Amino acid sequence: MSDHEEKPAQASSSAAVNGNFIAKQTRRLLAICDQLESIDLDSYLKVGGYRGLKQALARSPQQVVAQIAAAGLRGRGGGGFPTARKWEVCRREKSAEKYLIGNCNEGGPGAYMSRFLVANNPHAIIEGLLIGAYAIGAGQGYVFIRPEYGDAVIAIKQAIAQAREKGYLGSGIMGRRFDFALDLKFSPGEFICGEETALIACIEGRRAMPTAKPPHPAQKGLWGKPTIINNAETYANIGPIMARGSDWFRELGAGQSKGTKIFAVTGNVKHSGLLEAPLGVSLRYILDDICGGMEKKTRKLKAVQVGGPTGGVIPASLCDTPVDYDPLKNLGAMLGPGGMIVMDEGVCMVEMARYFLAFSADESCGKCTPCRIGLKTIQEILTRITEGRGREGDLELLTELAEDVSWSSLCGLGRTAPNALLSSLRYFRAEYETHIRDRRCPTAGCVALRRYLVAAERCKKCGQCQPACPAAAISWQKKQVAQIDRDNCIKCGSCYEACPFGSID
Ligand SMILES: Cc1cc2nc3c(=O)[nH]c(=O)nc-3n(C[C@H](O)[C@H](O)[C@H](O)COP(=O)(O)O)c2cc1C
Repeated sequence: MSDHEEKPAQASSSAAVNGNFIAKQTRRLLAICDQLESIDLDSYLKVGGYRGLKQALARSPQQVVAQIAAAGLRGRGGGGFPTARKWEVCRREKSAEKYLIGNCNEGGPGAYMSRFLVANNPHAIIEGLLIGAYAIGAGQGYVFIRPEYGDAVIAIKQAIAQAREKGYLGSGIMGRRFDFALDLKFSPGEFICGEETALIACIEGRRAMPTAKPPHPAQKGLWGKPTIINNAETYANIGPIMARGSDWFRELGAGQSKGTKIFAVTGNVKHSGLLEAPLGVSLRYILDDICGGMEKKTRKLKAVQVGGPTGGVIPASLCDTPVDYDPLKNLGAMLGPGGMIVMDEGVCMVEMARYFLAFSADESCGKCTPCRIGLKTIQEILTRITEGRGREGDLELLTELAEDVSWSSLCGLGRTAPNALLSSLRYFRAEYETHIRDRRCPTAGCVALRRYLVAAERCKKCGQCQPACPAAAISWQKKQVAQIDRDNCIKCGSCYEACPFGSID
C-alpha cells in the first residue's frame, strides 16, 4: 500500500469536530479507504492494490500460509483464532473442491466494520479472498452479506464485475494456473446467520441453525467440502501482509495479538464512530484520547460493554486493561468483532444485562435447549428484578443458570450470551442487591422503578428541567428548587437528562 498509510487521515467532518478522533488513531485499513478516490479497480491499483496478490502468486501456497502465520494475524470476526492455522488445516485437506467465504453478516447492533470495509474498499476484500483461495486451493468463493447493507452490496457487486472483466477473477488469474470464481450469497439477516456453521446451512438452503464442531468447516464445510470462513476485516489485512511483509504487520499490536483493529464505539462518549487502533492499547486510550472522553462532563464513566451483544462489561476501574483478546476474556468480557458501548453513571447495569440477554434470547435459533430455554428464563428473572419483583436467591439462581448455559450450549451464541450478566454481577453486584432488597434502581434506569426527585441540596435552581418535561409535571420559579409532581410524571427521564448538574435522582 502507499507509504502514507499510517499518517493521520486528511481532514474529514470528524476531524473538524475533534482532530484527535483521527490523529490519535493508527489507521491502516481505514487510511486506505481515505486514500481511495473511488471504489473503482483503478483507484485501488493506484494505492498499491493487488500487489499483495502478485506477491502471493509468486510463492507457493505453503509460503503464503507461512507469511500469514509469521504476521500473527488473528481472525477479526470475534473468536480471534489464528488465521494461518485454519488455512493450513484446509490447505492440507485432499479435496478437488474447496470453498472460501467472506463473512459480512454482522448481525449485532451497533457493529458496521464489515459493512464499512466492503462499501468503501471492496477490492481489498476480494484481494484477501483471492490470496486465501490460492493458499488453500479453493476454486469458488462467496461473499455472504445481508441485502439491507445496500451500499456494501452495490460496491461488492461492482467490484466483482470489474475484477472479472480485468482478469482478477476467473481462469488463469495474473497469467498463472490459478482459477477462482466469486459470487454473492445473501444472508437472511439474523444474528445467528453469522455463526459459521449456521452460515453454511443458509448457503446450502437449510434453516440457519448451527451444527456441532468438530468437524470444523476447514475440514468439512460447505456441501461437505473443506471451507474457510473469515471475517471481512480479516481478509482486508491479507493483501497488506503479503505486500509489505509480516514484520511490518507485527510492528503494531501486543502480546499474541498483532496489527490494528477497527472498533465501533458508541454510547455516552463525546465522539463515537468507527476507529482503528493497534491491538493492545488501553481501553482508556480509546475512550479518552481518541473519543474525547465522556459526552457529559458531569457524568463519570461507569463501564464499557465490549464485544457486541454477547460481550461483557469492563468497569471504569479496569479501563487500563489492554484491548486484546486474552486480557479481556480474563475479565469476563471479550474483544468480539470490536463493538464498544460506553456507559456513564446514569446507566443501570441490571437493565443493561436484561437488554442484552433479551437480545440473545430473541436471536437464539432454538436448536439447543440450554440456549432456547436457559436464556429465556434468565431474561424473565432479570425482567422481574428490573420491575421490582426480585426475590431472595435470584442472584444465585441467575449465576447457576448463566454458567450452565455457557458451558452446555451448542454454539458461540449460547456460550457467550451470559457474559453481560456474569460480568455485571461480578463488578456491580451491589446494584443487583439494591434492586431486589430495596425495590429501587440507583440510576433510575429501570422505568418501572423510577421515582424522579429533585435533590434540593444540589439543585442550582436553573429550571432547565422544566421545559424538558413532556408531561408538564415540573413546576419551577426563578430562584426556586424545581418540584416534580409524582402523579403526572410519566417516568421518561427527560428531566434527568436535561439537568446539567446531576441534581435529579
Ligand atoms: C452468534 C454468532 C454470530 C457471528 N456473527 C459473525 C459475523 O457477523 N461476522 C463474522 O465474521 N463472524 C461472526 N461470527 C464468528 C464466525 O462464526 C466465525 O468464527 C468467523 O467468521 C471466522 O472468521 P475470523 O476467523 O476471520 O474471525 C459469529 C459467531 C457467532 C457465535
